[in-house]
Amino acid sequence: MKILVTGGTGFIGSHTVVELQDKGFEVVIVDNLSNSIFEVLDKITTISGKRPLFENFNLVDPAATADFFNRHSDLKAVIHFAAFKAVGESVQFPLLYYRNNIGSLVNILQGMTDHAITDIVFSSSCTVYGQPDQLPVKEDAPIQKANSPYGNTKQISEEIITDLSNSANIRAILLRYFNPIGAHESALIGELPLGVPNNLMPYITQTAIGKREFLRVWGNDYNTPDGTPIRDYIHVVDLAKAHVVAMERMIGNKMKKNVEMFNLATGNGSSVMEVIQSFERTSGLKLDYRILERRLGDIEKVWADTTFANEELGWKAERTLDDMTRSAWNWEKALANK
Ligand code: WQD
Repeated sequence: MKILVTGGTGFIGSHTVVELQDKGFEVVIVDNLSNSIFEVLDKITTISGKRPLFENFNLVDPAATADFFNRHSDLKAVIHFAAFKAVGESVQFPLLYYRNNIGSLVNILQGMTDHAITDIVFSSSCTVYGQPDQLPVKEDAPIQKANSPYGNTKQISEEIITDLSNSANIRAILLRYFNPIGAHESALIGELPLGVPNNLMPYITQTAIGKREFLRVWGNDYNTPDGTPIRDYIHVVDLAKAHVVAMERMIGNKMKKNVEMFNLATGNGSSVMEVIQSFERTSGLKLDYRILERRLGDIEKVWADTTFANEELGWKAERTLDDMTRSAWNWEKALANK
């Protein structure tokens, strides 16, 4: 069973390729390495004992994408990760995000319909919910106006896929990630932010390893128990395993609707301070952090109702916050030893 994984050398993509290959899928990765490195392929091979097929081209290029599908018409399904995902950058360069995130999706869907490939698993995000009115947030919660072009590309992508499924033979499972953190237990793959990390976990581990002077905590005056914002952090390996379960659901014709969406989260909210405390517990280190002003665009608190994913998809996150911070730290130390 040959699966296209776009963005497969990226953080979530690479962990998913490992799980897919462990389950016997044949994987072809398309990635233009704009936010990842070629060496990840060697690491995937070391972990799973199989080297995925790999092609490096830009999915925004319609001709190159069409040519790819012509050469791989034996593809059975697609998992689409490839996208830009930095919220702040998307505000600065909206056209870059619309062209890349929407353009690549349209080209992939065109290739699928041209070759009667019906199944796609799409990497969506809890950003579609904005600041939910009700917590925990369920899949049928109202979609709020996106607070960044990045978040808007995820909403528009979900709409494009849904519209296409109403007019063509396309089935889709939209996976709405909450906050993926951590790394594979081998410490051979993990989050590899190029430049200064936007996200909390890599900034914590880079501070602890000495690459950053201190962690800036963006505000502790929120309406939460310790004043810092709350998120639903999920281990990247739990997230990767959910993609295999979703793929098997489609292939096994177990879907109840042509388009299904699932929250991928733990159902537990953790504050920034709780993540810091978990990191200090699992690393045995004291983290240098300073409380600063709020970051523009941050929402106060979000965590998921995971009942639908647990009961309908048949998947449940198993790893704890300590598993996440411990694996993130092991990965950062492995990077430093390279
Ligand atoms: C988490 C919390 C920050 C960095 C974003 C995207 C989301 C997804 C994950 C792509 C917040 C605080 C962070 C720092 C801090 N990306 N923080 N100091 O913003 O919840 O989600 O990344 O799919 O779509 O929106 O994640 O890790 O940036 O922030 O205090 O140096 O950590 O204020 O409360 P976020 P994050």
